[in-house]
Amino acid sequence: MTPIPPQVTTPLIKSSKLKEGQSKGFIVGGTNLFIVRHQGKVVAYLNSCPHRKIPLQCLPNQFLDCDKQFIRCSNHAALFTIEHGLCISGPCNHQTLTRVNVEESDDQIYCTIPSA
Ligand code: FES
Repeated sequence: MTPIPPQVTTPLIKSSKLKEGQSKGFIVGGTNLFIVRHQGKVVAYLNSCPHRKIPLQCLPNQFLDCDKQFIRCSNHAALFTIEHGLCISGPCNHQTLTRVNVEESDDQIYCTIPSA
């Protein structure tokens, strides 16, 4: 049986501070990640494009395309579905962003990542 690595749950932001169609980046214990609210739900991914393993955004907290329908890598314009992080266009087509566990409770958004 493989041991489960220790994890830490960290509060990121109040739920009310992340409106529909907004995204926001965080560095938690050295882990670079971002969250997006889409169709009322919050999803989180590591801020690392599968194409070059570099952060997706050029501007702070700008992880979505103009229509806020896809996550967009600003480096080479790859587009990813918000729900699954699947690249549907660009140099890393069919690859996925790495999901981060995220949850909301009591007007707070938390992420859970492996502890250092
Ligand atoms: S680094 Fe993201 S598409 Fe090239």
